[in-house]
Amino acid sequence: MREPIFEVKNMNKSFGIVKALKDVSMEIYPGEIRGLIGENGSGKSTVSSIIAGIQDADSGEMFYQGKPFKRANTVDAQKQGVSMIVQEIGTIGSITVAQNIFLGRERDFRKGPFVSPKTMIKKAQDMLNRVAMGHIDASLVTAALPLEDRKLVELARAMQDDPNLLIVDETTTALSQAGRERLYGIMQSMAKDGKAILFISHDLDELMQVCDTLTVLRDGVIIGSLEKAEFEKKRIKQMMVGREVAENYYRTDYEPYEAGEVALKAEYVSAEQILENFSLELHKGEILGIGGLSSCGMHELGRVLFGAEPAITGQVTVYPSGNQITDIKTAILNRIGYVSKNRDEEALILRDTIGHNLTASALHQLSKWGVIPPKAEKTFAKKQIDDLEIKCYGDIQEVSTLSGGNKQKVSFGKWVGNDSDIIIFDCPTRGVDVGVKATMYNLLYDLRNQGKAILLISEELTEVIGMSDRILILKDGKLSKEFYRDKDLSEHDVVEYLI
Ligand SMILES: Nc1ncnc2c1ncn2[C@@H]1O[C@H](COP(=O)(O)OP(=O)(O)OP(=O)(O)O)[C@@H](O)[C@H]1O
Ligand SMILES: [Mg+2]
Repeated sequence: MREPIFEVKNMNKSFGIVKALKDVSMEIYPGEIRGLIGENGSGKSTVSSIIAGIQDADSGEMFYQGKPFKRANTVDAQKQGVSMIVQEIGTIGSITVAQNIFLGRERDFRKGPFVSPKTMIKKAQDMLNRVAMGHIDASLVTAALPLEDRKLVELARAMQDDPNLLIVDETTTALSQAGRERLYGIMQSMAKDGKAILFISHDLDELMQVCDTLTVLRDGVIIGSLEKAEFEKKRIKQMMVGREVAENYYRTDYEPYEAGEVALKAEYVSAEQILENFSLELHKGEILGIGGLSSCGMHELGRVLFGAEPAITGQVTVYPSGNQITDIKTAILNRIGYVSKNRDEEALILRDTIGHNLTASALHQLSKWGVIPPKAEKTFAKKQIDDLEIKCYGDIQEVSTLSGGNKQKVSFGKWVGNDSDIIIFDCPTRGVDVGVKATMYNLLYDLRNQGKAILLISEELTEVIGMSDRILILKDGKLSKEFYRDKDLSEHDVVEYLI
């Protein structure tokens, strides 16, 4: 009989009244890439982080290579061969890449009483080179790196002790195709060497392609596991949600489209390094999709349009006022909303409540003679929580304690419920499970039908094609192609303009 590399037995974990894990038992075998799937808040990150030594279970057992598994913290777990890339940003922005890679291991670089930064940087650079991430400079302050590279630094850190079990929690949504390929390559070669991977994602296609087996969690309970031969979308979704989920959740109308008035105009906008003399017009009552590879400049475009990043050349004008957008304050005063891809650092106040985060951008709309009636604030928050099925025990729960996908829903709900005329969505469904994605798409479509101007920036082509009236494809910071909504438009037609 095969011996598992890792085994979890009857694990329980509660946070106050929330039972995050109920008697969870699972095995991970050598040579296996096991997918872990479940709705937002089903317990995936909780069980993973307990394995990796980030937190402890209330009860239950763990076995690693046949022996009881004890670990004091994550570094200790890593040194024993169990490492994890966390769902949220797992690096500290204010220190160097090298310091992040060797976080908790500074002692290894002691020379007398001092830590030698030079040796540390050299070793970190060697390690980055070894895992084909030599483009990242180990001496840089981590905050200077794009989100993707920050995730790759975590990958390099996780690989340093040659793990026998690597846990990858919802990492691929932060990576470009090239970054994904790099990660898949590492996972496959580990599996070939008889090691194991626990892989978490909400992308069913990705899971079905990458994984050998899938384990499904629902509300903290293991529902079951499927072998590759048994993979079937409908079945997996049903196991996740407990009911049938519609196959297609995008809008289904294809009537000829007439552009409304211009709401926002960018003229010859350039941004740091990537975006070059880019122009666009966003109209009322349209969803304008922006597609491309992660590094094509589309995220920078969103930031420039919202005034979060200065334009080096060109200008952004909002209509009918004719005001120019140069900073966030002006953008908000002109009723522009923005859902950032980087939710933890740009979109949410993690230490504040769900209620406050949801209402922050709608205070102006809720206030009566300069005062905000607490009841109105509560009602507003409750509606968003219900509509988006935000899994929480109430609007007073702190955002930092929500699961990743539920945080994303807060970041989305914050702008959907207020009276913005223009909303820029950057990867709005990132990390959101299939059930709630449908709700988000419905809300986007409603906003469009109310005459709002929607910019939908996304790395998921199916989403851009499925939801947009018009699509701009960016490549290397420039427009490479424009498409109009069309029933026959497929990913295949678009892909050649990305690369
Ligand atoms: N520190 C905490 N305090 C309170 N509740 C918590 C805490 N951490 C997790 N939870 C709750 O435990 C449940 C499981 O969360 P978990 O993060 O494991 O979900 P998940 O399956 O990873 O979801 P997602 O797909 O959204 O990432 C959620 O209801 C979450 O709000
Ligand atoms: Mg999670």
